[in-house]
Amino acid sequence: MNNVVVFGSQWGDEGKGKIVDLLTDKADLVVRFQGGNNAGHTLMVDGEKYALHLIPSGILHPGKLALIAGGVVIDPEGLLKEIDALTARGITITPDNLFISEKAHIVMPYHRLLDLARENLQGVNKIGTTGRGIGPAYEDKAARIGLRMGDLRNLDYFREKTVHALLEKNHLLNGFYQVPSVKLVDLMALANVWAERLTPFLSDTARLIQSALGRGDHILFEGAQAVQLDLDHGNYPFVTSSNPIAGSVTVGAGLAPGKIEGVLAVVKAYSTRVGLGPFPTELKEETGEYLRTRGVEFGTTTGRPRRCGWPDSVVIRNSVELCGADHLAVTKLDVLAGLPELKIATQYLLDGEKIDFIPADIQTLDCCQPVYEKLAGFNVDLKKARKITDLPKAARYFLDRLSELSGAPLGLVSVGPNREETIILHEYF
Ligand code: GDP
Ligand code: IMO
Ligand code: MG
Repeated sequence: MNNVVVFGSQWGDEGKGKIVDLLTDKADLVVRFQGGNNAGHTLMVDGEKYALHLIPSGILHPGKLALIAGGVVIDPEGLLKEIDALTARGITITPDNLFISEKAHIVMPYHRLLDLARENLQGVNKIGTTGRGIGPAYEDKAARIGLRMGDLRNLDYFREKTVHALLEKNHLLNGFYQVPSVKLVDLMALANVWAERLTPFLSDTARLIQSALGRGDHILFEGAQAVQLDLDHGNYPFVTSSNPIAGSVTVGAGLAPGKIEGVLAVVKAYSTRVGLGPFPTELKEETGEYLRTRGVEFGTTTGRPRRCGWPDSVVIRNSVELCGADHLAVTKLDVLAGLPELKIATQYLLDGEKIDFIPADIQTLDCCQPVYEKLAGFNVDLKKARKITDLPKAARYFLDRLSELSGAPLGLVSVGPNREETIILHEYF
C-alpha cells in the first residue's frame, strides 16, 4: 500500500492528528486536502503538546514533506502564526519541507468578520462555527470571486481583485450587518507581508503528488473535520463548508479515484460534537460529564466544551460505507475505563419503527431515539496496553462489537494521546 486517506468518521476531534503523526513514521509525504484552520489536530510527542490547524501533522518528523493542497482554504495570518510558533519550538519549516498550493484559496480578514457577523445575526439559528471565516471563504471560491495563494505573486492583480471584493464585502459588513468595514490599505499591508513570507512556499502540489506516486512514495492524506460535518453528507446546515469524506481527496489534492489505496476511519470510542446540531446519542447527564472530564473534551481551536455521548454505530457505519474505509482506528478507549456499563447505538427509533440510516433532514433526525446495545464496562488503566491481548475482556468485546456494527475491521487502537500508547493491528506501509 502506497497511500492512505485518514478521515474523521463522527463529528470531528476523533484523534486524526495523533493517528497521522503515528503513521508519518513510514510515510514520505503528508497532505492536507480540505478545510482550513477550523481544524485543530493535537499531537503529543515526548510529553510535549502541539496543536496544528493548517500545517499537516507530519511536520514534526524531520525529513518528511508536508503539503497543503488546493482544496484547503488558508488564512495567511493563522498560517504564519503557526509557522512562527512551531519554529520557535525548534521545528524546521522551510520551502524544502512545506509546500503550499498556489491554487488554495485565501481566507481574508473580511471572511472572518462575515462569519462572526452572520453567526451573531442568526441568534438561536446559529451554527456555532469556529469563527475562522471558513464558510465565507468557500462561498467566494464557488462564486469565483476568491483570492488564491498564487495571486500573492502579483500584488497589482491581488489589489484589483480585492478592490472588487470590497465593494460587496463592505456593503455587507457596514450596511447589512452594521459592523465596521475593512480598508483596502490595511489589507494590502497584510498582503505585502504574506507575499514576502509565503510565496517561497508556493507550488503545484497536485504535480508534486503525481511525482511522488510515480516514485512509489508513501503518501498520507490527512482529513480534517468529519463525515457528519460534510457539506453534502453531514447534518446540513450544521456542517462545515468543505467535504471531509475520504473521496474529497480526489478534488482537494488531485488524486485520481482509482489511485486511492487505503482508507482509514478514525473513530473515537465515544461520540463528541463541538458546535450546534443534531447528536442522537448525546449524554446531558453525569456520564457525559465523566467523558468530558476524563477525555479532556474541550475544543483545540476554540476551547469550547465538547458535547459528549455514547458511540453511534449508525454514524460510523455510514462513514465506513461513504468513504470505503478498510479499517478503523479506534481512539480514546482508555477514557471509557471506570464506567460500570457501556452502550453502543445500533439503530434509531423513529415513530415506533427501527431505522438504520441517518435521516437527511435535521427535524426528523432530532426525533430519532437511539436503540442501544448494552455491554459490560471495565475499570482498568489501559494506557500501558500494547497488544490487543493486554486489554481486559470487556474492552476487547466492546471493540469487536463496535467493529462488527460499523462494518470494518480494527486497524489500530489508541489508549492514550502519546505515540507509543497504541496497539497496532494492521501495518499501512
Ligand atoms: P483531531 O481533530 O481529530 O486531530 O482530534 P483533536 O486533536 O482535536 O482531539 C483529540 C484529543 O484527544 C487530543 O487532545 C489528543 O491528544 C487526544 N487523544 C488522541 N488519542 C487519544 C487516546 O487514545 N486517549 C486519550 N486519552 N487521548 C487521546
Ligand atoms: P477537526 O479537524 C470539530 C464544526 C464547528 C461547527 C461547524 C461549522 O479538529 O476535527 P466552521 O468553522 O467549519 O464553519 O464550523 O463545524 N467544526 C469542527 N468540529 N472538529 C473540527 O475539526 C471542526 N471544524 C469545524 O464547531 O459546528
Ligand atoms: Mg480537532
